[in-house]
This record gives sequence, structure tokens and C-alpha cells, in this order.
Amino acid sequence: MNMRRRFIRLSMLTALLLVCGSAVLAEEKPAPEPYYEWKVEGFAINAPIGGLVGNPENGRKIAVARKKGNCIACHVMPILEEEFNGNVGPPLTGVASRLKEGRIRLSIVDEKQINPMTVMPGYYRDPRHFNQVRKSFKGKTVLTAQEIEDVVAYLMTLK
Ligand code: HEC
Repeated sequence: MNMRRRFIRLSMLTALLLVCGSAVLAEEKPAPEPYYEWKVEGFAINAPIGGLVGNPENGRKIAVARKKGNCIACHVMPILEEEFNGNVGPPLTGVASRLKEGRIRLSIVDEKQINPMTVMPGYYRDPRHFNQVRKSFKGKTVLTAQEIEDVVAYLMTLK
């Protein structure tokens, strides 16, 4: 085989690999999460995001998970298996006796609407408007609508 032929073969093989490779990647990519609009009324988001129903057990896991809510980095919560609970934010033990569900939802979605100077991340801000975030979150919310509702449901059990 002469050099030219070999080169053509090699480039055809590369092209084939590229086409197949990108097809596989395209297939593996999950469908993007839908973003649901939310409305603030009197310092509360009264309607569940996307009309979804939260699962409190899942919400507890999300609150602990470092790459999800990581709420315990800043809040004391009744999660005894975790040694470290931060105290940058107010304790969330008994939060449901102090705050209504809609106010809790707003705090998680976008605490900046309550206190513009807060250090608490907005977990469900409009990704089209608030894009000065880490690259991995570009075009995405920190938590999905379902995850927000799960965490709200969990906090509602903290009476
Ligand atoms: C980087 C720290 C930080 C993280 C992470 C964080 N918070 Fe907060 N959070 C705060 C601070 C600080 C406040 C108090 C509001 C302010 O800054 O004025 C607050 C306030 C709140 C409030 C309102 C409480 C009240 O008494 O007014 C709720 C509810 C809440 N956070 C829930 C959560 C949940 C749930 C998570 C995880 C999904 C979370 N926070 C993650 C720092 C944090």
C-alpha cells in the first residue's frame, strides 16, 4: 500500500470514528430539564414549582449531598449521622413551625429576593437571566424543580 492510500484509509477511519462517537454522545445526553416559571407573592412562592409533588425522604438526601443541596454546610439540621453542620445560616430545626411553606420555597429558590446580600445560593433562579455561575451550571438551575419540591417537603417535616 502506498503512503497516499494509507493516508486516505486512515482519514476515512478517523471520520467514521468521529461520526459514530458523536452519535453515541448525542444519544447518551439526557433530555434537558424543563425550567418552570415561578411567581413571588408577599415574600412567598405559594404554588409548587411545575405543580410537582415533593418526596421528603429524597429531600433529606438532597439536603445532605455535597453536590446537590449541601444545606448542612451552612445550616444546622436534625441530621445526626453527619458530624458537621455549619452555622452560617439560621438553624432549620423546627423551621416549619416558624415559616409557611411558600416562604420556605422562596428561600430555597432564591433567598436573594428576601435578602439581596445573602450568601445562600439561589437553587432555582432563571438560568437565562442569572448566568454568572460555574460553567457546569450554565443554562441550568442548581437543583431541578423536582429536587426543590423534595427539599421543601423535607423542611415541612421539621416542625
Ligand atoms: C452558603 C451557605 C448556605 C447554604 C449552602 C444554604 N443556605 Fe439557607 N441560608 C443561608 C443564610 C446565610 C440564610 C439567612 C438569610 C440571609 O442571608 O439573610 C439562609 C436562610 C435560609 C432559609 C430561611 C430561614 C429563615 O429562618 O429565614 C431557609 C428555609 C434556608 N436557608 C434553607 C436552605 C436549604 C434547604 C438549603 C439547601 C438546599 C440551604 N438553605 C443552603 C445560607 C445558606
